[in-house]
Amino acid sequence: MATKQFILSALLSALAGHAAAQGGVFTVNCAALQGSIQRADPLIYPGVVSPHVHVAAGGTGFGQTQTSAQAVAARATTCDKFYDKSSYWQPQLYHHNANGTFSLVTMTGPAVYYLNRACDYSPTANLQSSCPSTFYARAPPAGLRMVVGNPTLRTYNPSDFNQQAIQHVCLTSDPNNAPNTPYLPNQPCVRIRAETFFPSCWDGVNLDSADHSSHMAFPVGTYNGGYCPQSHPVAIYSLFYEFFYDTAAIGSDFNRLVWAMGDQTGYGLHGDYINGWNQTALDLAMRTCTGPQGVNTPGCSLWVPSLNGPGASSAQTVQTTNPNPEPVGLQGPIPSLPGNNPLSGTFVKKSFRA
Ligand SMILES: *[C@@H]1O[C@H](CO)[C@@H](O)[C@H](O)[C@H]1NC(C)=O
Ligand SMILES: *[C@@H]1O[C@H](CO)[C@@H](O)[C@H](O)[C@H]1NC(C)=O
Repeated sequence: MATKQFILSALLSALAGHAAAQGGVFTVNCAALQGSIQRADPLIYPGVVSPHVHVAAGGTGFGQTQTSAQAVAARATTCDKFYDKSSYWQPQLYHHNANGTFSLVTMTGPAVYYLNRACDYSPTANLQSSCPSTFYARAPPAGLRMVVGNPTLRTYNPSDFNQQAIQHVCLTSDPNNAPNTPYLPNQPCVRIRAETFFPSCWDGVNLDSADHSSHMAFPVGTYNGGYCPQSHPVAIYSLFYEFFYDTAAIGSDFNRLVWAMGDQTGYGLHGDYINGWNQTALDLAMRTCTGPQGVNTPGCSLWVPSLNGPGASSAQTVQTTNPNPEPVGLQGPIPSLPGNNPLSGTFVKKSFRA
């Protein structure tokens, strides 16, 4: 199937594009969650209409409000790991048409990687060195909620890990031509892969924080691996999202993409996470599902006996009716971005390689 091939090439390029993997990886492949394209953000704006439109994948519990317990108890998941009812979400992508309207750019589904990249703080190690090959990060703890990136950014600071962790990849018909940029692509793309790499170091105490990020930190040396700092000493599996947006229909008018915040630069891309796993299965996965056969390894904790496998991605719809059913572009172009978000930042035209 084309999708499978696409996911495989996504995996290979993801691994090639980031610091050397240390083994210990599994991927959760998901369909988009139907009904999730709405101004909902259960992490940052629980119970109210959020300022911009998101699109989610994963557990069907996603909506304006979702506690961690509700995530775990969700009816179903769009992901191919049945025990994973986590919510994975990002802003929705739009195309600003020449006549001023906005067309929704379809998010076809994400691949979410759980990577063994970081290691616990050590008072004796050189924190800039790479992790011992024998180290296993622990699973994201039950109840963990976090965000990476910042929706208000319209400029790029190349030394900020929180910005290095945000990337856009322009997939063209030539597989060798996939430019990686912190800003929205400035050339025609068959698809855009929007990437967000979450901080891998946990303070060991708080499952969330007022800004939804300060209970987490990036490793000392790089944004995507290495020793954790003393302030956040506990290494968890690194979460890395790749959300795919189908941009083929845009054709040559590619210079007018905009994230739902009104962001024309792309620097405001961000990712959000609520852990909704069967925690028993997740806790065991790094040790039981990372053999040569991956999730098909006998005894892998992600294997669901009744399914005779870990599951399959599937079309699913949110359980809770959207209380704010405004047009978001699913029926055709809309005159303004939901929330009336004005366009901001200028499209980045200069050639730049991250
Ligand atoms: C504006 O442009 C879009 C995209 O080409 C098109 O679908 C839509 O019908 C146009 N709307 C108006 C009012 O002309
Ligand atoms: C959670 O996963 C474990 C396997 O790791 C399994 O034995 C258990 O039945 C699962 N619990 C639920 C509620 O599915």
